[in-house]
Amino acid sequence: MVLEGDCSQITSPGQFVNIHLPGFYLRRPISVCDLEGDQLTLIYKTVGKGTAYMAERKTGETLLLLTGLGNGYDLSCAGSKPLLVGGGAGVPPMYFLAKRLCAEGKTVHVIMGFNRQDEIFFEEEFKKLGCRVTVTTVDGSYGKKGFVTDALPENYSYVYTCGPEPMLKAVYKAVQTEGQFSFEERMGCGFGACMGCSCRTLTGYKRICKDGPVLRKEEILWED
Ligand SMILES: Cc1cc2nc3c(=O)[nH]c(=O)nc-3n(C[C@H](O)[C@H](O)[C@H](O)COP(=O)(O)OP(=O)(O)OC[C@H]3O[C@@H](n4cnc5c(N)ncnc54)[C@H](O)[C@@H]3O)c2cc1C
Ligand code: FES
Repeated sequence: MVLEGDCSQITSPGQFVNIHLPGFYLRRPISVCDLEGDQLTLIYKTVGKGTAYMAERKTGETLLLLTGLGNGYDLSCAGSKPLLVGGGAGVPPMYFLAKRLCAEGKTVHVIMGFNRQDEIFFEEEFKKLGCRVTVTTVDGSYGKKGFVTDALPENYSYVYTCGPEPMLKAVYKAVQTEGQFSFEERMGCGFGACMGCSCRTLTGYKRICKDGPVLRKEEILWED
């Protein structure tokens, strides 16, 4: 979905927008996939009633969004060869991040994990940015068979990742370097007021919508 409007509050890759949908009490959080001037690109998977409603919208309709939410990724830690790992609906924020890192002259390697070939998107778009791209599919229908952790390279300076929690946990255990991990949590307000998205970390409780969604590897506390 490409939207046009005031995007001046969006400052970092990894931030998200929260979309008000008429008739739905809670807004739906979606990551910033790309931003060019006042054009915002979002990529979302239709999973329930809210995203189904979004998928039915037609060109020219208006949606109300809160923009520039969350902390986003800190690019200053990237080093010269950052590794970006995205799984499924966690791939979109990796694009905006890759774009910024490539613009800074970094050698960016992106690993994208999907279940099947028909779920894959943006492989060419990442390549056009100049990234090295590795695609994994669980069923082996495209790219390397297996999980993103089966495709980790030998050499990288830092890790940025976003995806389902089991994937984040596997990446956390497998990677050699420090990194930043973006988490999904059910949200109430989406801007830090209700505490509905709080989770425990090694440095105290954090609101995923405001203090996250990006947490640093060294502060993550996995609760089984
Ligand atoms: C920071 C953040 C960024 C996200 N970015 C993307 C993205 O770029 N692309 C994408 O496809 N999805 C993304 N998601 C997940 C997306 O928000 C949910 O898929 C969506 O809210 C589902 O709404 P629904 O009404 O279709 O589903 P329903 O299951 O009917 O939703 C019911 C309620 O649960 C919440 N909910 C359901 N699934 C999730 C989830 N995974 N995370 C948080 N809340 C959820 C909904 O917001 C809603 O309030 C992101 C989630 C978060 C927290
Ligand atoms: S959703 Fe309200 S504080 Fe995070």
